[in-house]
Amino acid sequence: MSKTVLITGASTGIGRETAKYFQQKGWNVAATMRSPEKEKELIKLQNVICPKLDVTNEKSIALAIESTIEKFGTIDVIVNNAGYSLTGVFEAATTDQLQRQYDVNVFGVMNVVRAILPYFREKKSGTIVNVSSIGGKMTLPLFSMYQSTKWAISGFSEALQFELRPLNIKVKIIEPGAVVTDFYDRSMTHTKKEGLTDYNEYIKKIHVVNDKFVSKGNHPDKTANVIYKAATSNNWKLYYPSGGDAKAYLTLRKLQPVSWFNSVIRMIYK
Ligand SMILES: NC(=O)c1ccc[n+]([C@@H]2O[C@H](COP(=O)([O-])OP(=O)(O)OC[C@H]3O[C@@H](n4cnc5c(N)ncnc54)[C@H](OP(=O)(O)O)[C@@H]3O)[C@@H](O)[C@H]2O)c1
Repeated sequence: MSKTVLITGASTGIGRETAKYFQQKGWNVAATMRSPEKEKELIKLQNVICPKLDVTNEKSIALAIESTIEKFGTIDVIVNNAGYSLTGVFEAATTDQLQRQYDVNVFGVMNVVRAILPYFREKKSGTIVNVSSIGGKMTLPLFSMYQSTKWAISGFSEALQFELRPLNIKVKIIEPGAVVTDFYDRSMTHTKKEGLTDYNEYIKKIHVVNDKFVSKGNHPDKTANVIYKAATSNNWKLYYPSGGDAKAYLTLRKLQPVSWFNSVIRMIYK
C-alpha cells in the first residue's frame, strides 16, 4: 500500500512544493489548507486531496485527519509546515499580534501533534516532521517574535522525541535558511506603533540587508527534498538544515561562542 503524508499550510511555498514532491514519489498526499475552495492545481493531481485545516482550529484538524484516513486508509507522516512571521521591533507589537504568532507557529504545531499521536501510538509507527528554521537555533535583527516561536518548535520537538522513541514514532526538525516564497511578503505581518520613531533608522538599515539575504534564497523545492529525506529516513537523526546558508550559519553557531557569532551578525547588518 502507498504511504500517506498529511501536510499543513500546503496552499503556497514550501508546503505546496512538498505536496507535489511526495505525490511525484508515489505517495498519497493530504495537502491541507485554510481555503481549499481556492485550490485549482493540487486537487487535480492523482492521489491528492485538499482537506480544510486551520492549525488554530482543533475541530478542523480532527476532521482533516479523519477524512485522510478514510480516503487513503492510513497516515504515515505529518508535516507541520504552516507558519508565518510577525516581524519588526518588539516594542511595537500588540498583544493580539503576539498571541496570534504563537497560536499559529507554536500551539498550531502542538495541536496537530496532539491530534495525531493516538493514531500513531496505536499503529506503533509514524513520523512527525516539524518545519522550524535556522531561526530555531540562532537569531537575526527584527525577528525576535518569529524566531522565538521557532526556538520553541525546535525545543519542543527535541524534548518530545524522548517519549516518542520507545513508541517507534520519529520526530524530525527541518531548519531552512532563506526560501523564496510568500513568507516575506503576503504572509508576513509587521509591527508598527504610532509615534514610535526612535527605531526608524535602524529598521531601514536592517531591511536593506534582509532584502539581499532573501533575494539569494533557495527555491522551495530544495526544502521539499530535505523534508522528503527526513520523512523517509530509517534513522533517528533529529535535525535537517536546508540550504547552503543554513548549513554555514548553523555550523558557525555550533562551533563558536554566542558572543562571537552575534558580533558577526552585527557586522553583516552594519
Ligand atoms: N521562507 C523562508 O525563508 C522560511 C525559512 C525558514 C522557515 N520557514 C518556515 O516554512 C514554513 C512555510 O513557510 P513558506 O516559506 O512556505 O511561507 P508561505 O508561502 O507564506 O506559506 C505559509 C503557509 O502557512 C499557511 N498558514 C498560515 N496560517 C495558517 C493557519 N492558521 N492554519 C493553516 N495554515 C496556515 C498559509 O496559508 P494561507 O495561504 O491560507 O495564508 C501558507 O499555506 C513556515 O513554518 C515558515 O516559518 C520559511
